Amino acid sequence: MRTALVAGNWKMNGNSASINALMEGLNAELKSNAVDVLVCPPSIYLSQVKALTADSVIALGAQNVSEQNNGAFTGEVSLEMLLDLSCEYVILGHSERRSLYAESDDLVADKFKATVAAGLKPILCVGETLEEREEGNTLAVVERQIKAVVNAAGIEQFTDAVIAYEPVWAIGTGKTATPEQAQEVHAAIRNMIAECDAELASKMRILYGGSVNAANAAELFANEDVDGGLVGGASLKTNDFIAICQAAGA
Ligand code: 13P
Repeated sequence: MRTALVAGNWKMNGNSASINALMEGLNAELKSNAVDVLVCPPSIYLSQVKALTADSVIALGAQNVSEQNNGAFTGEVSLEMLLDLSCEYVILGHSERRSLYAESDDLVADKFKATVAAGLKPILCVGETLEEREEGNTLAVVERQIKAVVNAAGIEQFTDAVIAYEPVWAIGTGKTATPEQAQEVHAAIRNMIAECDAELASKMRILYGGSVNAANAAELFANEDVDGGLVGGASLKTNDFIAICQAAGA
């Protein structure tokens, strides 16, 4: 059995006061181990959220990391720094990083390898644009993005990894993939991993991301191969995120 994981990707949102309020609300309601819950604040607030998750079941993650160890890389954050702040997970290859910051499959693979080597768990994001879906290339795109990392890192490095399927057209648009669309791609991703290691594939968590909200979470998570969600906008709303976590634990 795979324990569901719900991860909140706060993106570039929030401030000290809003984060205190959000975490107070989440800590008050999320106490069960039926579902793994993760929050990924902007890196400048990781230290604050570390303190707020000290007595909590909620885990801490980062939204991105440098593939370099340390040194003259102005503006970057290292894996050592994330470990220092008790981060457990790192989101890698988010479509916003790929499209707005030109992160290539190769760079994502380098970050993945560095993350595993440091002992953190990568959440590898993959997903197609609307154009790619309409051209019938969804599975080819997702396979290219996954194979780039599998080939560079080796399948054994996926033991603690999570894959997040985030169709680009569903991110921040209010347009969610239907449960059938999500299940189709999730099953295909699990098959891609199973071709390399069937046991690992059966244990790997594959999250859905893209306009997950309190109203649609249950029907998305009801699918056999959907093991939780990577949630953007709704993860900033206390009650909505709690409802999504409860849907995943049900
Ligand atoms: P939204 O939930 O706001 O669509 O964002 C999804 C996402 O990009 C999570 O990483």
